[in-house]
Amino acid sequence: MNTAQPFSQLIRTASRAQHEEAESSGFLGAMLGGRHGVEAYARYTQQLRFVYRALEERAGVLRDDPVAGPFVRPELLRLSALDRDLAHLRGPGRPADAAPLPATEEYAARIAECARDWPAGYVAHHYTRYLGDLSGGRIIRDAAERTWGFDRGGDGVRFYVFDAIPNPAAFKRAYRARLDALPVDDLEKRRVVEECRRAFAYNTALLRDLEREFPATARAL
Ligand code: HEM
Repeated sequence: MNTAQPFSQLIRTASRAQHEEAESSGFLGAMLGGRHGVEAYARYTQQLRFVYRALEERAGVLRDDPVAGPFVRPELLRLSALDRDLAHLRGPGRPADAAPLPATEEYAARIAECARDWPAGYVAHHYTRYLGDLSGGRIIRDAAERTWGFDRGGDGVRFYVFDAIPNPAAFKRAYRARLDALPVDDLEKRRVVEECRRAFAYNTALLRDLEREFPATARAL
């Protein structure tokens, strides 16, 4: 690993293989191909809520942290969008919070641990989710609108709409500049990259759990 590289490039290159693995998930593939019923999408969205609760529940404290603070931005916060999507997906009168899948539970617990004890590790989780949402998220949103007929950018897909980020490319550039300025030494940077790989692995495990529940061959309802 060449730590002389800008850190944003290093973390991106070092997690490329894991990204490809996550991208080739059967569950996501079936979702993008319109082969899942809306139940599968709802279950996936529920899992994301556990993940984002862990990412965002300590945002108020982490905002003042010298390492994690620069990444914690109100325009990224996703919990209220997820709640609106879930209210829409569940319909009135359904239980508020279904149980997390085992992989989701482990993933959320690890994020919470980092948020509490290791701000640089938290940055790895923050990067893996939010920069991904700002990048490939659009593809999932388009597929969801097409497949299940949600209003464009409306209830059901609000999670993918960053109202307060009109220019995602510029936001990502600024985010990468903050990664490059991460105030930690090379050894710690290596640990952050490792944590990012781990974050991708958690995502892959979560998607596998979902695939078990909704086999990729399932036809859309
Ligand atoms: C169908 C699944 C997915 C598709 C189609 C997809 C697509 C993309 C695309 C097009 C980019 C932009 C690459 C670039 O700027 O050159 C990207 C970046 C990214 N994706 Fe994904 N992605 C998927 C799944 C995931 C998953 C499951 C994660 C992890 C939770 C993830 C995390 C990321 C991250 C962190 C980046 C930013 C890389 C960087 O610029 O540093 N992606 N993705």
